[in-house]
Order: sequence, then structure tokens, then C-alpha cells
Amino acid sequence: MSAWGPGSRALSSPGRGSRSWRCCWWWVVVVIGVAVGSGDPWMSAEACPSSCSCSSTRISCVHPEQSINAFPVLQSEAEMENITDIYIANQSSFSSISDKDLHDYKNLRNLTVTNSRLTYVSKLAFQSNVKLQYLNLKDNNLSSLSWGIFKHLNISYLILSGNPLHCSCENMWIKLWLGEEADSQELRCIEDGGGRKLLSRLTLPKCEVPMATLSPSKVTVMEGENVELSCTTSGVPSPQLIWDMVLVTGHEIETSGQISLLRLSNLSSLDHNKKISCKAENIVGEKESSLLLDILFRPRITKLSDAVSDHHWCIPFSVAGNPKPILTWYWDDKVVTEGQYITTMIHDITEREYHGCLQLDSPTHFNNGRYMLVAENRFGTDQREVEAHFMQKPYEGTEKEPIYYDFTTEGPTTETPEDRVAVYVVVGIAAVAFTGFLLMLVILKFGGNSKFGIKGCVLFQNIPVEVVSR
Ligand SMILES: *[C@@H]1O[C@H](CO)[C@@H](O)[C@H](O)[C@H]1NC(C)=O
Ligand SMILES: *[C@@H]1O[C@H](CO)[C@@H](O)[C@H](O)[C@H]1NC(C)=O
Ligand SMILES: *[C@@H]1O[C@H](CO)[C@@H](O)[C@H](O)[C@H]1NC(C)=O
Ligand SMILES: *[C@@H]1O[C@H](CO)[C@@H](O)[C@H](O)[C@H]1NC(C)=O
Ligand SMILES: *[C@@H]1O[C@H](CO)[C@@H](O)[C@H](O)[C@H]1NC(C)=O
Ligand SMILES: *[C@@H]1O[C@H](CO)[C@@H](O)[C@H](O)[C@H]1NC(C)=O
Repeated sequence: MSAWGPGSRALSSPGRGSRSWRCCWWWVVVVIGVAVGSGDPWMSAEACPSSCSCSSTRISCVHPEQSINAFPVLQSEAEMENITDIYIANQSSFSSISDKDLHDYKNLRNLTVTNSRLTYVSKLAFQSNVKLQYLNLKDNNLSSLSWGIFKHLNISYLILSGNPLHCSCENMWIKLWLGEEADSQELRCIEDGGGRKLLSRLTLPKCEVPMATLSPSKVTVMEGENVELSCTTSGVPSPQLIWDMVLVTGHEIETSGQISLLRLSNLSSLDHNKKISCKAENIVGEKESSLLLDILFRPRITKLSDAVSDHHWCIPFSVAGNPKPILTWYWDDKVVTEGQYITTMIHDITEREYHGCLQLDSPTHFNNGRYMLVAENRFGTDQREVEAHFMQKPYEGTEKEPIYYDFTTEGPTTETPEDRVAVYVVVGIAAVAFTGFLLMLVILKFGGNSKFGIKGCVLFQNIPVEVVSR
């Protein structure tokens, strides 16, 4: 049987009704699928080869009679992305895994190909299957398996017993990677003479994991300076030397044999804390030597924006600098003394920047003004200012009464809640007294010619009526 292509297998499936009937059936499936709004089970059943069974997450091909020769291709990429398990057993035509076969199975976690005739696994076979964890290739025809296939993966189980592995350097990584597990799987390899040997006993003279050494091992320099790093590798088979870094700074590399020089010129502060690594890689494995660039530079305030209100009020800022800059705030040219009500908070530290807030606790329009941030380290200073407007009206939306702070001294100074209560009491008493005084005036004016005279309650019952009726 030929390879499985999407859409074609239904029509080419042998011995399963006439061509026209299959066509009909396919359309019925499509119609039902559309009508139901979720045709997945039907569709995948249709796309599944006859020797396999497919559910929404698993494909299993175990029928020996109609062996597949490559991984099934389901109807849509979305369906393939949902597959986490592929189980293939007793498929006598299944002999290789190519670059593209598993490309669309991006969420594949378990893969079993067992008791089949798997002979060749391409170096890029699992390129897209970064979630692959469990790989069982037991009882196949593998004579070698390259370490490079697994380099980018985080495999937890690898089962290889029952394969005619050669006692070659290319398979040495299996012994190193499996450790004691190699013995519990009773992994053996075949020597040139045909003898079988426990893989754990395999020793080969010129077959070892390489070494890489980066020097100097630490770099602390001013921005704008130049740096030269050298990497020396060793090992047999002789390793490939690979520099790995993502830098803004311009660089050139000069390699000769096992030694390579990396020249960085005019170091950019943007590369502070970036990693530079040198790798030595051969068929047995890889070693890496790395460092973090420590680039000294004067502070730069990269952001200072308008105050925003969350739990607290915040004047957001971002500052870069190495060593870490000391931050000072000024409010209308007076130094802000930080404390309980106003304080600098750093919320996030990235490779080269500190992101934070000047945090203000219930500020009011009294705190409006020009806020200036000064960042300083031993290489220089930077400053920036922002105009802050706090619009909060007294008594609105907060249980707490507003408190007026003078941020240039510690804490609230003008008034406390107790002071305010006292003020209300005084104002209240004054108001009552003033009203009393007005009443007295009215009484005195009308009291003289009133027919009721200034006598007891009668007066107090009538005066207001008289005042109102006029
Ligand atoms: C894939 O799985 C998700 C969640 O399990 C499901 O909603 C979606 O319909 C599936 N897609 C396909 C094509 O099967
Ligand atoms: C594969 O075939 C063998 C016999 O040849 C059988 O014992 C085994 O159960 C089969 N495996 C599966 C998964 O069907
Ligand atoms: C998939 O692999 C996990 C271990 O990683 C295992 O526990 C689980 O049973 C496997 N599932 C199948 C269907 O083989
Ligand atoms: C097993 O692989 C070897 C090559 O490594 C090949 O010559 C042989 O035909 C394969 N055997 C089977 C049964 O496929
Ligand atoms: C690799 O897998 C193990 C468990 O299988 C997990 O604990 C670990 O975090 C994974 N590492 C990465 C880098 O994904
Ligand atoms: C170094 O880089 C800075 C900007 O990153 C640039 O302004 C300056 O001209 C460069 N100096 C030299 C000597 O190339």
C-alpha cells in the first residue's frame, strides 16, 4: 500500500465497497459533521487508516495484516495537533521515520514503535515534537541512533532493547545517557566480529564527550570598551566549536583548529547580563562553557510616566544602570523624604532595567506638582520629571478621610483626624452661637411691640411663623 495522504485514503482503501458508495459516505459524513457542528470523531475515523484506530488524542496501529509504512496523516492539522499518543506495533512495512512524518503532531508525548522493522530515524525526525517524553522503539532493526536527534528534547524514557545496535562510537551516548537503566533494559550491542556485549561495558578508545573552556571566565567592563574571549575545545572525535549568543554589540570570530577567538568591540550596555556560550559538540555529546557579560554603565531613566491609580497611586518608572542606581525623588525641587506614605517600590528587575513606582498613599490635589527622579551611580546620573495631578475629591469613594501630607517631611504634618474633629466641633459651636445671636436680634426687634410680649414658649411658637409669613 502507498503512503497515506490526506483525503485520498478513503477512496483508495481496498476491498471496502464501490468507489461511488465511498463518495456518498464521505459526503454524508461531511454533512453530518457540519450539521452537528463538531464532526471530529467522524472525520478522524474517516481519516484513520484501516489498520489503525484513532481517537481524538491517540492513534494506535497494531493489525499485522495491513501494515502501514509511515505515520498516518489525519484529515486536518488541528486533529493531528490534538494527538498525544501514537502506538505502532507489529507493522512489518514500517521501516523509517523521516524529517516530515511527525511534523504536525506538535503535542505528541508518547511514541511507541515496537516489533516493526524500524531501521532508520532521520536526524530531524522529532524536530517539531518538543513535548515528546516517552519513546519506546523496542524490538526493531535499529543499528544506530544519533544523539543529535534528541538534543532539543527532554526525554524521560527511552527504550531501545531488542535492536541490533552496533558497538560504535555513534551509540556511545546511549550508554552514557541511560546509565544503569541500560542494564535493566539488558541493552546489548553487536561488535564487529558479531559478538554481543552489554552496552554498559562498552569502552572505545577514541570516543568521549568533548570539553570546552572559555577564558577569561568573567568579564566586567565599561560600556564602549572592547573585549576578547577565547574558547578552547578538546576531545575525540574532534568536536565542532559553536559560539552561542544574541548580542547587539558588533563582534567577529576567528577560529583555527580547536581554538576560537571572539572579539567584541564597543560593548553596548544593552548587552549587560547577556549570556555568551561556547559549545563543543561531537557524536558522543556536548559540553558548554558560558559567562554573563557584566557591563558597567551610567544610569538611564528609560521611562517616567503620568501617575496612575491602582490600590495606591503610582508614578511608574524604568531605570537602567550598572551598578544599580540610587534613586532620589524631588517634588517641586524639594527632596522627597520617603516613608510610610510615599515610597519607591521596585516591582520587576529585568536583565538590565529596574521597573517600579513612586508609590503614594491617598494623595490629594495638595500633592500635585512636578516630580523629578534622579538616578545616580558612580559613572554618572540621569534625571527626568513628570507633572502629577491627583484629582481625588475629599470624602469620595474612600472610607478613610483624606489626609494632607507634606511629602518633603516625614509623614502627615498639617493635620491629623483628631485635629479635624476638633475643628468641626469649634465650627459647630460657632454656628449654633451665631444662629442664637440672630434669633436674639429678631426677638429684640419685634419683642417690644408684640401683642404677646416676651413671655415663655408662646413667643418661641409664634416668631418663626411670623418671620416666614412675611
Ligand atoms: C482538539 O481538542 C480540543 C480540546 O480537547 C477540542 O476542543 C478540539 O475540538 C479538538 N480539535 C480537533 C480538531 O479534534
Ligand atoms: C504483535 O504480534 C505478536 C505476535 O506476533 C502478539 O503476541 C502481540 O500481542 C502483538 N502486539 C500487539 C500490540 O497487538
Ligand atoms: C505515556 O507516557 C507516560 C509516561 O511518560 C505513561 O505513564 C503513560 O502510561 C503513557 N501512555 C501510554 C498510552 O502509553
Ligand atoms: C535491518 O537493517 C539492515 C540495515 O541496517 C538491513 O540491511 C536489513 O534488511 C534490515 N532488516 C529488515 C528485516 O528490515
Ligand atoms: C523535563 O522533564 C521533567 C519531567 O519529565 C521536568 O521535571 C523538567 O522540568 C523538564 N525540563 C524542561 C526543561 O522542560
Ligand atoms: C559605540 O557605540 C555607540 C552606540 O552604541 C556609538 O554612538 C559610538 O559612536 C560607537 N563608538 C565607536 C568608536 O564606534
